[in-house]
Amino acid sequence: MKDSLITVAMPKGRIFGDACRLLRKAGFALPETFETTRKLIFDLEDEPFRFILAKPVDVPTYVEYGAVDIGIAGKDVLLESGRDVYEVVDLGISKCHMAVAGLPGHRGVHPFLKIATKYPHIASDYYRKRGEQVELIALNGSIELAPIVGLADAIVDIVSTGRTLKDNGLVEYDRLMDISSRLIVNPVSYRMKKQAIDRIIEKIIGITEGTKIGMD
Ligand code: PRP
Repeated sequence: MKDSLITVAMPKGRIFGDACRLLRKAGFALPETFETTRKLIFDLEDEPFRFILAKPVDVPTYVEYGAVDIGIAGKDVLLESGRDVYEVVDLGISKCHMAVAGLPGHRGVHPFLKIATKYPHIASDYYRKRGEQVELIALNGSIELAPIVGLADAIVDIVSTGRTLKDNGLVEYDRLMDISSRLIVNPVSYRMKKQAIDRIIEKIIGITEGTKIGMD
């Protein structure tokens, strides 16, 4: 029987290179132009796989709605989106962490802190658990600007190499959680295409330091 098509959402941007390397290592014949093209959909030549190249924050949306079967997304994006998807493998790639950061010595000056972030759900959860009342200011990027220009007292953002903080004279106040990329699956696809998806999961686990995450 001919294998049915498996569709995969890939995150463009910072995770993309790591994700491509991992999939090639797992045996997927991604074309050489994959990383450079402006094309958004690719079919593999000899295998029943279609890849779509999406914005990282949109990958869980494509997967939840079943527009694709599986995807690769950062744990930060998954937590923030709250999308209903199965998280099946911690791929162990694109590791970074979520932190609170700001200007040196500035922390705790005001009783009601203003916090700038691309991650309002993660940030509000963090401060609610600490019992601290804060005003969240949602931004879309270059978050490190906010404390420097006086828009916010601190930021909640991901830190990878730490270079952006350092180059902008900011310091980390707190570390919230470790982040890595995950393989996610649409629950209906997983039922309908279980064998094919399990094969992909096994292939990926075989070549990574990744670990399978229980779904029960
Ligand atoms: C992320 C994050 C930090 C930076 C951290 O931004 O929001 O700004 O990377 O990386 P580093 O610790 O290695 O310096 P991204 O590059 O995704 O762009 P953005 O500012 O547009 O969100």
